[in-house]
Amino acid sequence: MLGLGTLARVAREVRLDVGAVHDRDPAARGVSSVEVLGLWPGVHALLAHRVAHTLQKAGVPVVPRVIATASRAITGIEIHPAAEVGDALFIDHGTGVVVGETARVGRNVTMYQGVTLGGNGFATGKRHPTVEDNVTIGSGAKLLGPITIGHGAKIGANSVVITDVPPNATVVGNPGHPVRVDGKRPEGPDADWIHLPDPVADAIRGLSGRLGALERRLAELGAAEDPEPQAAVRELRSVRGQNPAGG
Ligand SMILES: CC(C)(COP(=O)(O)OP(=O)(O)OC[C@H]1O[C@@H](n2cnc3c(N)ncnc32)[C@H](O)[C@@H]1OP(=O)(O)O)[C@@H](O)C(=O)NCCC(=O)NCCS
Repeated sequence: MLGLGTLARVAREVRLDVGAVHDRDPAARGVSSVEVLGLWPGVHALLAHRVAHTLQKAGVPVVPRVIATASRAITGIEIHPAAEVGDALFIDHGTGVVVGETARVGRNVTMYQGVTLGGNGFATGKRHPTVEDNVTIGSGAKLLGPITIGHGAKIGANSVVITDVPPNATVVGNPGHPVRVDGKRPEGPDADWIHLPDPVADAIRGLSGRLGALERRLAELGAAEDPEPQAAVRELRSVRGQNPAGG
C-alpha cells in the first residue's frame, strides 16, 4: 500500500527525471533543478504519471485516470496510468506524446514531441511497444503494436515502426527500416530496402500477363471485338443514412 517507502521511491524517480533533463536537454544548461521541476512539461507529466501509476497499482479507482487526464490537459502528454515507465525518461517539449496502457519504457529513454507508443487494432492484452534502455525516439515517430525496440536504438523523426528493432540500430522511414546497426550500414541481401518483394504486384503482373495472352488468342480466333459490352459506368450518388465508418 501507500506509505513513506512509496513516497521516497517517487521522490527518487523525480530526482532522476530532473537529472535526465540536465544531462540531455541542451536548453537546460545552467538552469536550476527547481526551475526544471517548475517549468519542464515532460517533468510534470512524469511526476503526475509516477503518482497515478502508484495509485493504479494500489488499486485506487478513478483517481489515476483523473490525474492522467489533468496532466494531459496541462502538458499535452498522455501517459496511461498502467503504462510502466523506467527511471530517467526525458520527454523533450512533449506536446502530442502518447504512451499506451500496456507500453513499457526502460531506463534513460529520450522521446521528442509527437511520439506515439500505440496499439495496432482492437486487440486486448499486451498491444503496445516495449522500449528497452537508452533508446532515443525522434519527434513524430509512431511505434505501433507489441513490438520491442532494442536497447540503445535510435528511431528517426517521423518514422512509423511496426516491427521489432534490433539493439543499437538506427531505424528511419515508413515503414521503419534499419539504416545503421552498431554504427554500420546493414550488409548482405537484406540491405536493399528499396526493392523489397511485393507479392500483390507480382500477382497483378501475373494476371495481366494471362489476360493479354487471352486477348491475343481471341483476336486470332476472329473475336477481336469485345464479346460483352463494357459495364456501364454508374453515376455516383450521395449515400443516405448512417455513416458506416462512424465518427
Ligand atoms: C534517426 C536519427 C537519430 C539518426 O541520427 P544519426 O545516428 O546521427 O544518424 P545519421 O544522421 O548519420 O543518419 C543515418 C541515415 O539515416 C537518414 N536519416 C536520419 N534521420 C532520418 C529521418 N528522420 N527520416 C529519414 N531518414 C533519416 C540519414 O539521411 C542517413 O542516411 P544515409 O544512410 O543514406 O546516409 C536522427 O536523424 C533523428 O531523426 N533524430 C530525431 C531528432 C528529433 O526528433 N529532434 C527533435 C528536436 S525538437
